[in-house]
Amino acid sequence: MSKEEKAIEILKRFKQDHVVDWMGKLTENEKDRLIEQVLNLNIEQVIDLYNNLSKTFETGDKKIEKISAIDMNKLEDEEFIRYKKIGEDIIRNGEYAVVTMAGGQGTRLGHSGPKGTFKVNLDNGEKYLFQIIVESLQKANEKYNVVIPWYIMTSEENNNQTLAFLEVNNYFGYPKNKVKLFMQGKAPLISTNGKLLIGKDKLIKEASDGNGSIYKSLAKDGVLEDMKNKNIKWIFVGGVDNILLKIIDPLLLGITISEGNKIASKSVKKINPKERAGVFCKIDGKPSIIEYSELPEEMSEETDSNGDLVYGDVNILSHLYNIEALEKLSTKTLPYHIAEKKSDYLDENGNLITPEGKNVYKFESFIFDAFSYYNEMSILRVKREDEFAPIKNAEGNDSPETATKLYNQKLKKK
Ligand code: UD1
Repeated sequence: MSKEEKAIEILKRFKQDHVVDWMGKLTENEKDRLIEQVLNLNIEQVIDLYNNLSKTFETGDKKIEKISAIDMNKLEDEEFIRYKKIGEDIIRNGEYAVVTMAGGQGTRLGHSGPKGTFKVNLDNGEKYLFQIIVESLQKANEKYNVVIPWYIMTSEENNNQTLAFLEVNNYFGYPKNKVKLFMQGKAPLISTNGKLLIGKDKLIKEASDGNGSIYKSLAKDGVLEDMKNKNIKWIFVGGVDNILLKIIDPLLLGITISEGNKIASKSVKKINPKERAGVFCKIDGKPSIIEYSELPEEMSEETDSNGDLVYGDVNILSHLYNIEALEKLSTKTLPYHIAEKKSDYLDENGNLITPEGKNVYKFESFIFDAFSYYNEMSILRVKREDEFAPIKNAEGNDSPETATKLYNQKLKKK
């Protein structure tokens, strides 16, 4: 069977005959590219997901319980000093690296470039989100007399723009040989009536498949190997859009090591049941997070005898891993979650169609779904005003305005 026959067989098997028709309208070169794409796509998995759509998180017979976190405010001075010392030794030994997840599109913010290239006007100057991260790294490098390796996860959609931006800005003074970009994975989009779409490049439309893509991408792009060659033992993984994110924290390191855990994360206290953030819990005894889009209302409102939310520890995308954990997790396949989105596409005559509303399902894996491969993890609840100022929306909650205010307040406290 030729490659072309094979591709046609796959498309027909999954009822994507419109793509076969489309193939007939392409030049030889364009057709060859499409055939290669079809042969490399996991269409079966996507169609299977489409056929079993379930948008809400199914608690089913899973046992969901509260998970306990260490409250930073309740640590004794002696513990604080002891933990910090353990963490500081790791950083000073050059065994610590930072990964920034920057593969998302930031559509909610309405910024046209990669989110890290968004600029905020702070009391200590105008700064890009990437620049704020570099400043934290530089401060730690000075303090611990090291140069912390920095890895940035991009996506096919924004890799070139990210690289060009960092080049033009000379990596904000960070040693270029300590910065490495790697690309995350992608998955095909599928229309709400089960059809693959054709994009402007005349190929089947694909999109980044969520930040859970990180584990496999770290291995595939040689980042894990690079970390091992550099003798890195602990890796911090954080988002790009929280301008108070503490990417170097010896306390979290020290607690995790003292508790004998391989993974850890930070939380802040949830402001109200409706806050759009994932919450920590235990599912069937394993540490987990349930995303805000999937949290059943009754769970989000459940309170304990003190009136506190039972699921009141919010995920701030501040995760820590031992290198062994990243190696193990890079071999696992995480489940896909489904989100409805709006996406333009080419119709059968090659005209660009921009839909009015949501027209596709997008498949995303979540980084925290990997936590359940461990029985235990350390969770440190920190002060919201010190570590959580996310920029998600153009206006209102979690916007440049609210984040800037929080950042400036912290500056004044120093
Ligand atoms: C995320 C968390 C949520 C948490 C909130 C806190 C996940 C799945 N959700 O939600 O639990 O409470 O932040 O602010 O982690 N990204 C990629 N590739 C992708 C998608 C996202 O690298 O394919 C990156 C983004 O660039 C960003 C981070 O992951 O740095 C979070 O992505 P975003 O889509 O903004 O997640 P939220 O919905 O805000």
